[in-house]
Order: sequence, then C-alpha cells, then structure tokens
Amino acid sequence: MGEKITDYKMIIDGEFVDSKSGAKIQIECPSNKAFFATVPRGDKEDVDLAVNSSKKAFQSWYKVMPKERGKILLQIADDIEKNKEEIAKIIAKETGNAIKTQARPEMNLVVDIFRYFGGLSSELKGETIPLGEHVLSYTRREPIGVVGAIIPWNAPVMLGACKIAPALCSGNTLVMKAAEDAPLAILKVAEICQKYIPPGVLNLITGTGSECGEPLAYHPLINKLSFTGSTAVGKIIMKAAAERILPVSLELGGKSPSIVYPDVNEEWTVDGIIAAMRFTRQSQSCTAGSRLFLHRKIYDNFIGSLVEKLGNLVIGDPLDEGTDMGTIINNKQYTKVCDYIKDGLENKNTEVICGGLPPKSGPLSEGYYTIPTIFRNTSNEWRLAKEEIFGPVLVAIPWDNEEEVIKMANDSHYGLAAYVWTRDITRGIRAAHSIESGWVQVNQGLGQATGHSYGGFKQSGLGREFSLEGMLDSFTQRKNITINLNTPSKDLEDL
Ligand code: NAI
Ligand code: MG
Repeated sequence: MGEKITDYKMIIDGEFVDSKSGAKIQIECPSNKAFFATVPRGDKEDVDLAVNSSKKAFQSWYKVMPKERGKILLQIADDIEKNKEEIAKIIAKETGNAIKTQARPEMNLVVDIFRYFGGLSSELKGETIPLGEHVLSYTRREPIGVVGAIIPWNAPVMLGACKIAPALCSGNTLVMKAAEDAPLAILKVAEICQKYIPPGVLNLITGTGSECGEPLAYHPLINKLSFTGSTAVGKIIMKAAAERILPVSLELGGKSPSIVYPDVNEEWTVDGIIAAMRFTRQSQSCTAGSRLFLHRKIYDNFIGSLVEKLGNLVIGDPLDEGTDMGTIINNKQYTKVCDYIKDGLENKNTEVICGGLPPKSGPLSEGYYTIPTIFRNTSNEWRLAKEEIFGPVLVAIPWDNEEEVIKMANDSHYGLAAYVWTRDITRGIRAAHSIESGWVQVNQGLGQATGHSYGGFKQSGLGREFSLEGMLDSFTQRKNITINLNTPSKDLEDL
C-alpha cells in the first residue's frame, strides 16, 4: 500500500535503457493488486535497435571457442546461484507463485539449466559420411544467427533460461522479449549474464505482445523464432516465420490427461495427481494434468481423498513461507478462470465437489486468488474438458475400459503431456505408447528435468529445446561439406 514504484530498464547492446518513446508498462503485484514497478514499453524502434545489436554481436560470438562459451555459461550459473534467493522473491512478487513451492524450485532448475548447457559446448559435433576413399564428406553444426525469443509469465525465468542457455551455447545471439506481466526476474538474470558476455549477445526487451513481440517476430534480420505461450499466439509466430521460411520452435498449450487405473495405492496417487495438476502453481502450467480420468471402481473413494488433501493446501501470500498456493497472474486470467468456474456451476450435467468461485471478502479477495475446484462426472465433450483453463479447475471423468479411456485422452487438439497411474507395468507402457503426447509420465507427476526432450504433439507445439538433441535441432543448422580428394595436380608430378 502506497508502495514505492521502482523503474526498471531493459537491456539493449549491454546498456540499461528506456524505450525510445519513453512509454512504460506498470507492473502489478497480483497478491495485493498494487503497482510496484515499471518497465519500458518497447516498440518497433527498440526492437530494431536490439536486433541490429544482436546481429553485430553474432559476427564475433559464433567464433568464440565452444569451450569458452561453455565456460561462460558455467560462470553465469554460479552467479545466478549466488543470487537465486533474491530472484526467487522477485518471481513470487511479480507472478504470485508461492516462494516455497514454486519460485525457489524454479530458480534451482534455472541454475541446473545453465550448468547443463555449459557442459554441452563440446557436443556440437558433426558427422563424416562414407562416400568412398576419394571423398571427404562431413557436416558441421553451425549456429543459425539471431534468435527472436518470446516467453510467457507462468515460469518466466525457467522458460527464459531454456532458450538463453542452449542458444548461447551453440553460438547464436538472442533478442528475448519478456512477458509484460512478469519481466523483472528474467531481467535480473539477463543483467547477470551481461557481466560475462559481450554487448548484444543477449538483449532483453520489454513490451506488449502486439507492440513489441510482433515486430520482433517480423524483423527481417531475425534468423530463428522461438516462442513459448498460447496456441493462438503460436499461430501468429508461425505465420511470421512462414514469411521468410524461418525455423521456428513453439511450446504451446495443453489439456493433458491423467489416467488412473483401479490397481493404484490411492493415498499415494492422490499426491501425484495434485502435483501433475500443478495446483501449487494455480495450475498455470502448459503441462498441467487437467483432465482426470478415474476408473469407475475407485472413482468415489479417490475423489474423496483428493478433496481432503486439496483442503490441506495453504492458499495465501506468495512470499509467506507457509504458503503452498499463491495467486493467478492478473485480472484478465483471473476473470477467465472465474468464467469457466461459473460455466461449471451453471451446468446441470455436472456437480462441483470442492472449490467454486473465489471468496468475495477476506484476505483472499485482496489479490487474484482462486481455490482448487473439481467438477465431477463430466463428459469429455464439455468445454471445460476441452479448453485450456490455466487455473486450478480439474474435471474428473469416469472410465470403464482401457480402449475407451485412451480414445478420450487422445480426443484433443493438444498433445503436450500425459500421466498414467498403475502398478501394472505392461498396462502402463501400453498406455504410454498409445497416448498422443510429447511427454508421458508413468507414476509421477513432477519430474521436469534438464536433458529430456520436452515438447508437444499436435497443436501443443513444434520442436524441442530442453536437451542436447533439442539444442542441436533447434539452435543449429547442419552444413554438409563434400571434398573430392581425387583432383590431379597441375603438373601431374608426385609431391
Ligand atoms: P500469450 O500467448 O498472449 O503471451 C505469451 C507471450 O507472447 C507474451 O510475451 C506476450 O507478450 C507475447 N505475445 C502476445 N501476443 C503476441 C503477438 N501478437 N506477437 C508476438 N508476441 C505476442 O498468453 P497470455 O495472453 O498471457 O495467456 C493466455 C493463455 O495462453 C493462457 O490462459 C494459457 O491458456 C495460455 N498460455 C500458455 C503458456 C504455456 O506455457 N504454454 C504460457 C502462458 C499462457
Ligand atoms: Mg503482474
């Protein structure tokens, strides 16, 4: 209340700058709805400066020995590690994600990401192709150039690091646009990076999607687009890429199934379902297991334990050490989530068994707090079972046989993640192989770690970035060089 407003700058060519227009975006703290910071409201002109700076920086960055680039990423990892608690607090404040369950683990993962890619610079290998004794044919993994990267707000530093670390390791430079709702923590990370890299290797700009994101996507000097966010904007980015035949990576939305077989230990599996649904990130996760398929034999009992355990989650101030679950990011998303809940409450074919609309008075009404909500006996055809809600609203759908449940699980235009819960390993593997998703987990709900190729099938995305193979596929281009060794010397004399 009456809090001091701090003006942050963005980073272009190693300098901390305002937008050329001088315009700013106010940053709201979602747990008390108070403005506490501003960032520059960058537009086309700022994008142009940033992209030109990265273009220039590319000319020398790609020539830096891979081993050196790796060393730089390791130094950045150490520096971030020293500052991770401070950055975690910024994340909690700007996103509303609880420090204990979300922001702190996110920063631990960010340190891991820089360290992982720091160790991979020597893996940018090519191949030799056996075309015969008189030919030397080999490939090189060359960087693509200037990467235009756009990130969302739900795990802003982790999702930013997933692009910065592999792009820089493989010799690209980067212009990254932060999400207008959560630019501060990633700015802090980019500031740390500046100490170790030449100006322009990483430019971090701030602004809205249409004023700053779109000019970045369409800038003629961008060589590769990498986007994480909604499927709707993903389509805009892909169109921009099509204009110039740019390689593009898209990590988009999801409506991931969680399938529970009747042979599970229910107490234990309930914890897994809560983790998979990312309730402690208010379910603002593209990976959220938001369609719960429960076998009819265990349906009632399982739902009972789930409701009970959800009741134990402490909802409150994201910066409070006792809090498990914080707030939704902003008013727009809060309204969207509440509209879905209203739709559910008004629907006669379903029943709400916990949660509902957020309280209108008391401490939770001071921020964008929502409460875990479950609708039971819903149909897989219903809007709430089809669309990505990006809030703590779970639909619980009963099933009787495996073929039917796999069919329902796959009846979605999304295909990002999936969760299968069973003690029978053959069933688990059979289900995992039949589900149309980029990432299937059997008997675990969390588990996102560096090194696995995370990404979507269908409209959940395109390409992978989070692994060695992801870096090679998404941030390098293969060049083939073929040399004929059978050339006669000019005078035909032997050397
Ligand atoms: P969004 O997709 O609009 O925002 C993500 C990023 O894209 C932000 O940096 C934004 O400024 C930028 N952007 C927006 N419009 C753009 C444009 N025309 N050109 C270039 N960049 C643009 O997501 P939003 O509006 O914050 O959330 C809406 C829904 O998107 C959520 O309810 C959720 O369903 C989904 N979402 C999915 C995420 C994921 O991790 N896959 C992350 C965030 C949102
Ligand atoms: Mg905000």
